[in-house]
Amino acid sequence: MKIAVPKETRPGECRVALVPESCKKLVQAGYAVAVEAGAGRTAYFADEAYRQAGAAIETDAGALLGAADFVCKVAAPTVAEVAAMRPGAFLLGALMPLRNLESAAALAERKVTAFSTDLIPRTTRAQAMDTLSSMASIAGYKGVLLAAAALNKYFPMLTTAAGMVFPAKVFVIGAAVAGLQAIATARRLGANVFATDVRPEVKEQIESVGAKYVGIELKQEAAAGGGYAKELSEEDKLRQREMLADQCAAADVVITTALIGGVFAPRLVTAEIVRRMQPGAVLVDLAADGGGNCELSQPGATVVVDGVTIIAPLNLAATMPTHASLLFSRNLTNFLTAFTKDKAFVLDPNDDIQQGSLVTHDGAIANARVREAMQSKGKAS
Ligand code: NAI
Repeated sequence: MKIAVPKETRPGECRVALVPESCKKLVQAGYAVAVEAGAGRTAYFADEAYRQAGAAIETDAGALLGAADFVCKVAAPTVAEVAAMRPGAFLLGALMPLRNLESAAALAERKVTAFSTDLIPRTTRAQAMDTLSSMASIAGYKGVLLAAAALNKYFPMLTTAAGMVFPAKVFVIGAAVAGLQAIATARRLGANVFATDVRPEVKEQIESVGAKYVGIELKQEAAAGGGYAKELSEEDKLRQREMLADQCAAADVVITTALIGGVFAPRLVTAEIVRRMQPGAVLVDLAADGGGNCELSQPGATVVVDGVTIIAPLNLAATMPTHASLLFSRNLTNFLTAFTKDKAFVLDPNDDIQQGSLVTHDGAIANARVREAMQSKGKAS
């Protein structure tokens, strides 16, 4: 079975779907792996390293995709890339089909069997395949470094010959994978960290990585199952807003990571809350890819409003492409090898991981949420 690794084409995408280490594993498992020339360059993996791992280097992207039985990608393919794929081929990547409906529609039409790692169920067995977690962890880490670099103060408490400086106060909103990594990173830099979430079970996790939990008693349950949150009731939103305003006003750094259903960002930090923040404070909106948690965020840009720097980076994982690619690649390889039998990938409609992550199969959209999103988009246009 032939696996293809094309060079990513999305602007700013520096990651590569498989690194040499994984190619070697897959070759040992019986696959033939072909990599587009230069596919790993922006993540600092040379063609020569792929060759040494047993992969072939292909210079023609169209020929690479056309010959593949199984394509590994980081991001959703463009419609042109889908057109170059062979009907009946498999595709695996972080396709984010709910944000890339056009690509999903093209994959269905082309009769590609596509799996999206962001739809993999959050179960113990699937943990090693979970690109959302690997990439969110990078975002949490890098987000704090961006904040520290932009802040006009030290993070740690320092005792110097010129006297003492107090530690920065960091407030983290949303404490799942990205938020918990942000807390741990800010703690390692010596900051005083506070954090909030709407799912009650998170309090203990926040405390276990060294932050103080702040929150409100919710009138209505906010857990949506599967570890995801749902939108708060109007009454709870108002009460939460007051708490967020007080915490943000006291913080030097605010890191926001909140998502609903793992996809869309609730607008939690209003313009009014920003206005109450201290001049010189920094807000890093790690939910910018989902639209942003701050009303004033401009996804992909940095703005300064009333002395508050608001950084809303997109695709932050791509700014650490070597480790991001390494972890992403291991996630994909774990998926592939879990379903390899007699040197080939085997489709198993009864497997919960395959079922959960399947986006398109046999000319149809296999995922109900993607189907619904397409139907409501069709109605709106
Ligand atoms: P996410 O990126 O979907 O959401 C981030 C956080 O924002 C969540 O904790 C959510 O409760 C919080 N949030 C939503 N609305 C909020 C609001 N109004 N105010 C404050 N916080 C708000 O989360 P992620 O990282 O994708 O994880 C989702 C769940 O999956 C978590 O429960 C996590 O522990 C679990 N998980 C399980 C894995 C496994 O077992 N394989 C792997 C990774 C995550």
